[in-house]
Amino acid sequence: MKITIIGTGYVGLVSGACLADIGNDVLCLDVDANKIRMLEAGGIPIYEPGLEGLVKHNAAAGRLRFTTDVEKAVEFGILQFIAVGTPPDEDGSADLRHVLAAARSVGRNMRDYKVVVDKSTVPVGTADRVRETIAEELKARGVDLPFSVVSNPEFLKEGAAVEDFMKPDRVVIGADDERATRIMRALYAPFQRNHERMLVMDVRSAELTKYAANAMLATRISFMNELANLAERLGANIEDVRRGIGSDPRIGYHFLYPGCGYGGSCFPKDVKALQRTALAQGMELKVMHAVEAVNDAQKERLVQKLTARLGEKLDNRSFALWGLAFKPNTDDMREAPSRIVIDRLLERGAAVRVYDPVAMKEGRRIYGGEARVHFAETPMSALEGCDALIIVTEWKEFRSPDFAGIKQRLKQPLIFDGRNLYDPKMVSDAGLEYFSIGRQASEGTGA
Ligand SMILES: NC(=O)c1ccc[n+]([C@@H]2O[C@H](COP(=O)([O-])OP(=O)(O)OC[C@H]3O[C@@H](n4cnc5c(N)ncnc54)[C@H](O)[C@@H]3O)[C@@H](O)[C@H]2O)c1
Repeated sequence: MKITIIGTGYVGLVSGACLADIGNDVLCLDVDANKIRMLEAGGIPIYEPGLEGLVKHNAAAGRLRFTTDVEKAVEFGILQFIAVGTPPDEDGSADLRHVLAAARSVGRNMRDYKVVVDKSTVPVGTADRVRETIAEELKARGVDLPFSVVSNPEFLKEGAAVEDFMKPDRVVIGADDERATRIMRALYAPFQRNHERMLVMDVRSAELTKYAANAMLATRISFMNELANLAERLGANIEDVRRGIGSDPRIGYHFLYPGCGYGGSCFPKDVKALQRTALAQGMELKVMHAVEAVNDAQKERLVQKLTARLGEKLDNRSFALWGLAFKPNTDDMREAPSRIVIDRLLERGAAVRVYDPVAMKEGRRIYGGEARVHFAETPMSALEGCDALIIVTEWKEFRSPDFAGIKQRLKQPLIFDGRNLYDPKMVSDAGLEYFSIGRQASEGTGA
């Protein structure tokens, strides 16, 4: 099939590359000329495991191409996937500017039947607005052309995006007409060879499903974070509690990890946008309000623990920070807890030596102008002369460090771990004082 992807970001590029890989002809459009130039030259603008090889292979095979030419792009595909960003507006609602601009492009340039697919995460009712926008443009051109608008929310996870797209748990399609449903079924048939994964529903339900999924996952995280804070006061160990409840199949282990808050390009904005959607219907989502408030507070926890130990004023102090990305296997720092930690340390006069396996470039883009943020070459060199180590992202390479080496390099043997990576006894046996989430602080005893 001929497919146009409008918006070549995390979702657009992964979707385009995966759809090309199963034999489709894909043309990816973006307004960002630098990004398209880079892709045309064989570069990859984002870090995503497996993506580079997939893009190169399919580009070389001539199935995956890139353009900034809107007219050519709209002409190309019978399917027009909209995968542009939907950032939060000032009031927290989803900003649909880019989605509607993409719809306008389709309306202005289409010459035959198109299936316009909303892949961006968009509030309920957006498909209607996309339909109206295209119809207005066609009317302005004085032409009457058939088109369908379909919702196909994306559930891929950054860091495992290619795998998720290629082996989806489910493919949600919201469609109100038969012709478009048939085309979407044909498109996704290769992804469901061993069992049916396609859930076809009305457009509004599909739009709401995406928000409901992210809201549920965010709720589990905030629930655990709130309980973790209680466990600290009660002298309980949240990791034991996590195992104790996760073993119940009705609950399960996924997304029950206590930590220093959720971030990323989706959960924070989608939790906000869902609340705005409800408010527009005269309804307050009390659970979502609490989920967001708990998360905002949780992002402050590490620095609270640190100032409780070292005092409020941190001038002339220096801290090592492991992990910039909002989660492992991505370079995405949107709404990352690391940013709150760094900002708070800088506000208190401290300097920060940061290390991340892949997000250093993104870190430099954000903090490059700040003289007190130093970018270290290795996790160990980040520690030199620092008052403590702070861990924000659970990268694999942080899981089993040389504790003796850490102690040797730090001025004070202190670790503040926002991801509960270590067994407290092991850390204290190495002579390090250890603070984690939902567990008692432990003093360095050995070494
Ligand atoms: N990132 C994720 O993990 C993820 C997962 C599921 C769903 N989503 C949703 O998918 C959507 C896209 O997210 P993303 O992370 O890929 O965003 P992104 O910011 O990485 O990419 C969006 C791209 O769209 C381009 N763009 C904007 N307006 C355009 C236009 N009019 N025409 C062509 N290109 C245009 C931008 O230049 C950018 O390259 C969002 O709604 C997001 O909520 C994201």
